Amino acid sequence: MNVENKAYTAKEVDFTINDIKDRAEPRNILMASPEYFDVVDVKNVHMAGNAGKIDKKLAHIQWNELKSAFNHAVKEGILDKVLVIDGAKDCEDMVFTANQSFPWIAENGDKIVVMSKMRHDSRKREVPFFEAYYKNLGYNTLHLTQTQLFEGMGDLIPHIGKRLLYGGYGHRTNKDAYKELAAILQVPIVALELIDERFYHLDTCYVSLGNEAVMICKEAFTDEGLSVLAKLYKRVYYIPISEAIDNFALNAHTVFDYKTNKKMVFIHKGTTFTYNILKKEGFEIYEVDTSEYMKSGGSVFCMKMMVY
Ligand code: ARG
Repeated sequence: MNVENKAYTAKEVDFTINDIKDRAEPRNILMASPEYFDVVDVKNVHMAGNAGKIDKKLAHIQWNELKSAFNHAVKEGILDKVLVIDGAKDCEDMVFTANQSFPWIAENGDKIVVMSKMRHDSRKREVPFFEAYYKNLGYNTLHLTQTQLFEGMGDLIPHIGKRLLYGGYGHRTNKDAYKELAAILQVPIVALELIDERFYHLDTCYVSLGNEAVMICKEAFTDEGLSVLAKLYKRVYYIPISEAIDNFALNAHTVFDYKTNKKMVFIHKGTTFTYNILKKEGFEIYEVDTSEYMKSGGSVFCMKMMVY
């Protein structure tokens, strides 16, 4: 059937994943260096009580360990490069490179990126640094004009290997952003309402395990949201709220190599339920420690951006 390039509410989805065109995954990963990382205010509920509590030395060590873990995927040929943009002064959240933009590849192969409209002032300052960086990478950079809030890949996540996007809204992104994004990116977007403030971005409650499987936390979504995910994925795993909150398990990052069928996942250490699902799904698992970044409400997925 013909799927339209528009924003679908969960209820409106009348297609299946077989109706969606294929897409090649990006093979580079972008991080931002952590010298200015800090918690100075409360932008999300996870940050409450954490101002001034970052162990800066440990934060640097953890960032470097995450970078080394991503470099394993480069060594194994699953990714091409780990890129690093310099952190900037007065941009204490800039390490969370999932948020400032949404990079995409047009059907004709052109690289395009839509710049975010961040909710918080300090985070608005991060966006121009990324825009300049993308221009250097040969991207056509675009801006939203019809909406006030959109936080990039924190809320808008691609179906692996497909020209289909899932867009979380309610905390950091406005629902109306997806109408405009679907038109700009020429792609169908399934809009998913996020109903629990602990899951303030889609990437805190949703991890794609490939074309067929996904892990989510039930508490984050509406009933309609839960049923549309069950319709579009063959296997949906429900992660207990304890691991989703205490371990940021649903902020793991998965990477895939279709030629070799290899899959890797990078995840904050210490899960058991989630770990067993990842094993069962055939992932090579890299556990890392992101404790200092979790004090800011982010973990692995937030700390990187996949770029073409
Ligand atoms: N302190 C940051 C904020 O509240 C954390 C962002 C985490 N990123 C993410 N993709 N969930 O904006």
